[in-house]
Formats: sequence, structure tokens, C-alpha cells
Amino acid sequence: MNTTVTIGRTTFANPVLAASGTFEFGLKFPAVANRLGGVVTKAITLQPRVGNPPPRICEFPGGILNSVGLENPGVEKFCTEVVPRTAKLKCRVLVNIAGFTVEEYGELAARLDSEPVDAFEVNVSCPNVREGGALFGQQPQVVEAITTLVRRRTAKTVIVKLTANFVDPVETAKAAEAAGADGVTLINTLFGLALDENGRPFLGGRTGGVSGPALKPFALFCVDRVAAAVKIPIVGCGGIMDSADAFDFLSAGARMVQVGTASLVNPEAALEVWAGMKECAAKNRLTGWEQIVGRARRRGG
Ligand code: SIN
Repeated sequence: MNTTVTIGRTTFANPVLAASGTFEFGLKFPAVANRLGGVVTKAITLQPRVGNPPPRICEFPGGILNSVGLENPGVEKFCTEVVPRTAKLKCRVLVNIAGFTVEEYGELAARLDSEPVDAFEVNVSCPNVREGGALFGQQPQVVEAITTLVRRRTAKTVIVKLTANFVDPVETAKAAEAAGADGVTLINTLFGLALDENGRPFLGGRTGGVSGPALKPFALFCVDRVAAAVKIPIVGCGGIMDSADAFDFLSAGARMVQVGTASLVNPEAALEVWAGMKECAAKNRLTGWEQIVGRARRRGG
């Protein structure tokens, strides 16, 4: 079976990506990265950021909350020190970009356009910043403006990572599609609050983003809804721990999947998801992913 998936100008060897913020830049585990469809980098901003104060991670029975706050080296250092190394990876490299104004997204795309990276994941969904992030992603007209600007500044593949925090992602996915996005990723983490034993906020950033298995039913719901509303491909994300989860996302309408929180526990998780998918595809004599993608609706659900 041909395992490749194409989104925009980018063809991926398989449909499994390492999600942003959970696999660094793919350089710590190149043997894993090289066998994935691709790696999405930690979010990159124009200026370096130290991120939020600790603690930044809080575990709960259904997953974790993170409050990283977009810590990253900034685009210049990323281009000079990181990109020369990610360019040697055998998988696709998607750069997650985050701006604090609409214009900053355009500047980031323009700066990175000449670099040897494959695609952009436009982050309009970070829950851990006071400006930009999910606040942008809650407004379809802002999503449209950001996507339009990025689209103007690059011919590379543009995938917009959406939020489902207090917004219907159908509206923002349509806005991204109308502005020329090649695809959408959904969903980013959901807003959350964890308290310590004294009833005080546990995370240094006060609130965080919820990820892990607890997210999966809602993420699937969003993928299913958005798949019925837009034509551009969806990259499904939210609590994927194994290949059965990944197939669920394809069945709901995603063409690709991202493994995030699972990689924090087991750096080989994304590779294990892909190995399980391959095995299942062979066992069921699949001839193409289109047999699975969107079958939840085809089966009358
Ligand atoms: C963070 O850095 O706070 C998380 C990034 C994101 O959720 O987009």
C-alpha cells in the first residue's frame, strides 16, 4: 500500500507526525523522527522567550496540563543553530510559528521561507499567553487575516493549528480555508486549571492546556464536525496514545495524526503508533488511507 499523504506541496512518507512541543526539534531522537511522516517543531516566535515560571507540567489521571508559555530560542537562533541540523532529518519538518500580532506571523513566514523546512504550522491556539495564541484562534476574522498574511509570504505548505476553546472550530477552519490554508490541525490543548492541596493554582502560569487521553473524545468530535464542513485536509490531534486512537481520528475524517503527550512518556510512542497502523493496514489488506478517512460518516453515523 502507498502509505504517503500529501498536504499542500508536501508529501509525507506516512500519516504520523510528532506534535509541537512534545518532541523538541526532533534532534534528540533522530532514529524515531526519521521514520515518522514528520516532526512539528516547538513553537517559534520572532524574539526568544523564556516561557512561564515553573511548575509547567501537572499530571492528572486523564493526562497533563502544560503551561510552557512558548519558551523558544527565537527565529534568528532557530534559523542559524537549529535548522541546519533539522535539515539533515529524513522526515518532513514543519515549523510551528506563533506571533503576538497578526503582522508577526507574516514576518515569521517571510524569514523562514528561504530556509530548508517543509511547511508551517500556524499556531493560533496556544492557551498559555496573555496576547495572541488562543485569543487569536477564537476569532474567525483574525484567523483569516493571519492565514492570508502567511499565505502571501510563503509558497510552502501552510497548516493552521486551531483551538476549540470557547469557539466552534468549524467557523475558524472555514476562515483558514477561505484564506488559502492547505490544511488545519485540530485540536490544540483545552484550557485547564489545577490546584494544589491548599487550593492555590499549581502551575506557575496559573492556568494551562489540557492534553492526553481525556481530550480524545472531544478532539474526535471536533475533527468529525470540521471534516463535514471543509475540503482541506485535517491533521487530528488530542490524546492519541496508540494506533487504534490514530485510526479513530482517520475514521472521523483526519488525513494525518499527531502524537503529543504520549511522546513525553515514551519518546518512541509516535513510532509505535505508526508501526501499529502499518501492521493493521497490512492485516486488513488496505489499499489506501481513503478507505479509512471519514468512514465514521460513510457508515451512517
Ligand atoms: C506552550 O508553549 O505554552 C504550549 C504551546 C501551545 O499549546 O501551542
